[in-house]
Amino acid sequence: MSAHEPVSDAALDQIFRNARSFNGWQDKPVSDVQIAAIYDLMKMGPTAANSHPGRFVWCKSTEAKQKLADCAAENNKTKVLTAPVCVIVGMDNDFHEQLPWLFPHVDAKSWFDGQDAWRAENAMRNASLQGAYLMLAARSLGLDCGPMSGFDPDAVNKAFFADTPNVVANFICSIGYGDPASIFDRSPRPDFGAFNTIL
Ligand SMILES: Cc1cc2nc3c(=O)[nH]c(=O)nc-3n(C[C@H](O)[C@H](O)[C@H](O)COP(=O)(O)O)c2cc1C
Repeated sequence: MSAHEPVSDAALDQIFRNARSFNGWQDKPVSDVQIAAIYDLMKMGPTAANSHPGRFVWCKSTEAKQKLADCAAENNKTKVLTAPVCVIVGMDNDFHEQLPWLFPHVDAKSWFDGQDAWRAENAMRNASLQGAYLMLAARSLGLDCGPMSGFDPDAVNKAFFADTPNVVANFICSIGYGDPASIFDRSPRPDFGAFNTIL
């Protein structure tokens, strides 16, 4: 079914116009049901050849958050520790192994066999897209996000993906109910004319 009507202005406000990147969190939990609901929306977003290279580790326990915070930049440690959950958006550089069932109508795996650089490029592109879908899904469900790339990727890979070296971290994102006191003034968003061309 294709979309026929724009979503409501209230939804656009919630997902885009009024949504912010939060640095602090209210003391209000996020349930496993909510986490699964985020995933179930996110997974419907498109990826090349339906490849789904994103691999998601949801750090919810104090232990897991501490392990992740230990890998985070100094200014991000508290943002990991105090959030109800912080997800590692990882990416599987061997995502092509799953293509026989994820994209069954052609032999898409053969497009990527033996092509390490091409796979890494595709994993980065499509897992980043999935990370973006994840944030928009979380916002659609009434949650807030705080994305972060300030961490030591080698440390995260060692701490969380040691048994699966084909999986590496892309970015991390705290999720919960944002503390309005924790945000900076909104930074400028360029007008259409600045970075767009219609040919
Ligand atoms: C991929 C990515 C990485 C980011 N890394 C960090 C980070 O390491 N630390 C941090 O405090 N904010 C980080 N941010 C937050 C951005 O600075 C923020 O999203 C941007 O300034 C827009 O803020 P706004 O959504 O409140 O308008 C990151 C955002 C993204 C999308």
